[in-house]
Amino acid sequence: MTITKEQAQNIQGIGIAGFRKYTQQLIFARIDNANKARTLLRELSHITANAWEVKTFNELFSEIRHRGRQAEGGVRATWVGTLISASGLKKLGANLDELPGDEGFIAFKAGMAARAQTIGDTRPTDTPEQWKKPFRPGTEAIDLLVVVASDEAAELDEAVARIEKHMARHGCTVVFKERGRTLPGRMRGREHFGFKDGASQPAIDGWDDAPAEVEPPALPIGEFVLGYADAAGQTASVGDFWRDGSFAIFRRLRQDVFGFRQQVAQGVPASDPALDAGTTAAKLAGRWPSGASLQTSPTVDDGNVTNAFGYSGDPEGLNAPRFSHVRKANPRDEPRVDLAQEPTERHRMIRRGAPYGSPLNQAATADDGKDRGLHFISVVADPARQFEFVQSRWLNDPNFPNGATPPTPAQGYGPPVGGEPADGPDPLAGEFDAGAQDTLRQPSGAHQFTVMHELVRVTAGEYFFVPSIAALKRLSE
Ligand code: HEM
Repeated sequence: MTITKEQAQNIQGIGIAGFRKYTQQLIFARIDNANKARTLLRELSHITANAWEVKTFNELFSEIRHRGRQAEGGVRATWVGTLISASGLKKLGANLDELPGDEGFIAFKAGMAARAQTIGDTRPTDTPEQWKKPFRPGTEAIDLLVVVASDEAAELDEAVARIEKHMARHGCTVVFKERGRTLPGRMRGREHFGFKDGASQPAIDGWDDAPAEVEPPALPIGEFVLGYADAAGQTASVGDFWRDGSFAIFRRLRQDVFGFRQQVAQGVPASDPALDAGTTAAKLAGRWPSGASLQTSPTVDDGNVTNAFGYSGDPEGLNAPRFSHVRKANPRDEPRVDLAQEPTERHRMIRRGAPYGSPLNQAATADDGKDRGLHFISVVADPARQFEFVQSRWLNDPNFPNGATPPTPAQGYGPPVGGEPADGPDPLAGEFDAGAQDTLRQPSGAHQFTVMHELVRVTAGEYFFVPSIAALKRLSE
């Protein structure tokens, strides 16, 4: 199915198109006066970017840059995304009861903090009770998230100031704001642990360029936008208000970069051949710093960034370990990925996050105590089947994928049979108890090692609806 211009002009640009800007400011606000807030919504409905314009801009920008010209000075844009939580929609009078009773809609309505048990936000380091104050349970302060993205600092500042002024004037209070931005120098395009981010995104049928044969197949738009058939051929029965909208998952993930460097400096005890720090880091991530996959570049970072690979030819994970972040997060052609026997395509996400905070000095000999990490933002049609499933069933579960099949969909994978060590949790973004074990597999044998502690901590989070442009207008009426 081809996405028409008219459809794309009603879908927000933050999801299927992607802002691709150096800087991305997040403004979280509470609605104090719903009637006044409608005027703010009207303003936002005018300035919120649609998918058609963002995609058209991105293509033009790439075209100009491809010809070796300085695109930055020539074509410029500052984009706005408007996201509303369930509490915000309630205050604005939207009827959440008209949503079907499927798990994904239940999750959205409950909000992220209330889903802590399901997601795995249960360790003392991750519980919602210790999140940034406005995000804590019972606070009901996070109604709106406005995302403003630009390559130009002055333009971004101006747009942010204008939106904040409108918020103050129209019955809303800014409760938290933070700027994410591309890291400087050689860290450009990378996250704080030093790996290129954004190497793999799902391609959408009839919207993105068709993937090459060995790349993961294109997905129907219904996997990310409501009102269209998903990969199982199902269209959620939602009313007009929800059509052309998506859900967004926001997680503020604090990264312990010094801890990561200590972890990889230890290598893997008894590994043979022994792993140096750089190779250990790549084994944890599943890709090298350049973004090259361990499947296609098993021994050295040759900068070959591609998605033309699978894991079925490496069932034991001799190249990309089965515990590695990218293999757990998208197991591609791994057999036995899901109790419901659904293909991995049913659990994919569009990721639109950005790093926050300054990088840790390369020569640091101790942690500098600064808060740095990732504003994780993913865009999906079903928060439960996509985000919650991936976090809890794949990243957190030490027994996925080599453990026993879960007896019911609500339970995790069991330990592997026959004395096999489990592969262990995702050491980067998994949630696990201190001292958890991962298993590196080499032709010389299985070598278990301790993951010192969670290198990533959840410090805030919420689920949002990304309304269509038409729905934003309706909310303002
Ligand atoms: C601070 C925490 C995190 C870091 C440092 C991180 C880092 C990375 C890196 C370096 C990549 C490879 C490059 C790419 O394909 O974009 C990646 C891919 C990915 N990450 Fe994360 N990530 C984090 C959290 C998460 C979380 C919480 C999830 C989901 C619950 C997630 C899901 C994914 C997915 C789905 C991919 C693409 C895998 C593929 O298609 O091959 N990540 N991440």
